[in-house]
Amino acid sequence: MTPAAGPLSAPLSALEASGLGQAMRQWLWLYPAVETFHIVGIGLLFGSIAVLDLRLLGFSRSIPVRRLARHVLPWTAASFLLIVPSGLMMFVAHAGDFISSPVFLLKMCLILAAGLNAALFHVVVFPSVEVWDAQEMRKLRPPPSARASAAISLLIWIAVIACGRLLAYF
Ligand code: HEM
Repeated sequence: MTPAAGPLSAPLSALEASGLGQAMRQWLWLYPAVETFHIVGIGLLFGSIAVLDLRLLGFSRSIPVRRLARHVLPWTAASFLLIVPSGLMMFVAHAGDFISSPVFLLKMCLILAAGLNAALFHVVVFPSVEVWDAQEMRKLRPPPSARASAAISLLIWIAVIACGRLLAYF
C-alpha cells in the first residue's frame, strides 16, 4: 500500500488485509472475473443512458421520451447492482493505491457529477415533459435544457469510462 493515504491508512490496510482483499489478490481468476462483471455493468449503464440521451438530443423522435425512459431507466438502475459491488471488490484488493490515485478520485467525483446532472434533469427538465413530448411537439427537438443535460451526461459518462480504464496505468 502507498504511504500517502495518511489518516486513512489504517482502515485501508485493514480492507486490504481482509479475507476478501486477500482473495482478490491471490485467486488467479477472481479479479478478472469481477472486472468482467464491472464491464458488463458499464455496458448496461452506458447503453441504457446513451439511447435516452441521444433521444433527448433530438434523434429517433418517433419514440416518445416518456416511453423510452420507462423502458431504459430500470436497466440503468439494475446496472449499479453489477457495477458498485464489483467496483468495491476491486477497490478492496488495492485500497491504498486506489485512494492515492488522482484518476480514481477524479472518477468518483465524475460519478457524483453525473448523479447531480441526472437529479437536476429530473427536477428541472422532466416535469415539463408532457408539453415537449406531446405528439404534435415531437417533430421539434426537445428543449435546450434537455439537450444540454443529455450532452453533459454523455460527456461525463465517457470521462468516467476513460478514468476507469486509466486506473490500470496511473
Ligand atoms: C458507475 C460507473 C462506473 C464506470 C462507468 C466505471 C468504469 C470503469 C472502467 C471502464 C474500468 C476499467 C476496466 C478495465 O480496464 O478492464 C473500471 C475499473 C475499476 N473500477 Fe470502475 N466504474 C464505475 C464505478 C465504479 C465504482 C462505484 C467503483 C468503486 C469504488 C469502481 C472501482 C473500480 C476499480 C477499483 C477498477 C479497477 C481498476 C484496475 O484494476 O485497473 N468503479 N471502472
